[in-house]
Amino acid sequence: SKGGWSSFMAKEIADQPQAVADTLMGRLASDGSVRLSEIDGLTAEDIKNIDRIIMVACGTASYACDVAKYAIEKFARIPVQVELSHEFRYRDPIITANTLIVAVSQSGETMDTLMATRFAKEQGAKVLAICNTQGATLARESDATIYTHAGPEVAVASTKALVAQITAGYLLALFLAAGRNATEQKVLRSLGQELLKMPARVTQVLERLDDVRALGKEMANAKSVLFLGRNVGFPVAMEGALKLKELAYIHAEGFAAGELKHGPIALIEEGQPVIVIVPSPRDSDSLHPKVISNIQEIRARGAKVIAVAEDGDTDVANFAEHVIYVPSCENIFSSILTVIPLQVFALELSSAKGLDVDQPRNLAKSVTVE
Ligand code: F6R
Repeated sequence: SKGGWSSFMAKEIADQPQAVADTLMGRLASDGSVRLSEIDGLTAEDIKNIDRIIMVACGTASYACDVAKYAIEKFARIPVQVELSHEFRYRDPIITANTLIVAVSQSGETMDTLMATRFAKEQGAKVLAICNTQGATLARESDATIYTHAGPEVAVASTKALVAQITAGYLLALFLAAGRNATEQKVLRSLGQELLKMPARVTQVLERLDDVRALGKEMANAKSVLFLGRNVGFPVAMEGALKLKELAYIHAEGFAAGELKHGPIALIEEGQPVIVIVPSPRDSDSLHPKVISNIQEIRARGAKVIAVAEDGDTDVANFAEHVIYVPSCENIFSSILTVIPLQVFALELSSAKGLDVDQPRNLAKSVTVE
């Protein structure tokens, strides 16, 4: 039941601290070490032999894969390719016995993803599923399954299942990194301990959404909204755009902020709303100043900039019209936090337009046809 919430989606957004905590539970010890007993089927030898990971998924689940790619490559040093299931299946992809397929699906019944994994299995690859539904077809057909424990998701638009998928992706990254000695164990444990703090931070994000709600209502007449991000903020930008399309029927696009000057900046005109996911100023890759310059470039051309930034980032406030602050955390884990205001923004815009947020037009909760 909706338990007093105005929609299932609102309830499921509120369930997110629990979804993250439950997905971590039993897998992350208090010292920060990761144990994934469900993939015990993969021997230490198998893990050492993986020479490539191909992640397959559709829609929102594919953005969880994009986030996982950043974490797996950074910590486990295994090349990761993210593929939309339907595109992957119908070309001639290169799959070997040392390819690990990771299929991500909330329902575990998405036909495109099932077809992609069946095909990969036929080519001799091992398939690991990340799935939210106990006993789903995907889980039954995979060699191993890491269940996300988000609980049943009723609203068509995925919210808590996504943050649980992202959480599982981070766990997988730390697990593979430890198994391959690709990052110092001490560093991995401290990252694990950081991950344990994420549910409380998700709660904090949920406690400060009044501004986002107001913005959503205010912008109900927007004709188009653009989203920009870098690193893990890029898939978050893509997700923000998808949510707005499917829930509020507003044209929206997500871009990697670095692409701006390669084309999309031509879209910027007076009053164009742009939501920018700003990386942490503490990030060692110094992406922060680059994104701040992007904000300056689009502001100079009339964009109305709404930034999602980390607490304490006072710099961004000098350049953006609105700043939505989220608690600070390791930049790589920030996607779990920055995606939430975007979910709420889409929900508010959709409700302000009088639309059914739980059941948007033309969409089904699980797409069981190709
Ligand atoms: C968007 C959304 C869809 C699903 C996609 C995959 O909010 O929910 O894009 O993420 O259809 O569904 P699953 O995860 O069930 O395979």
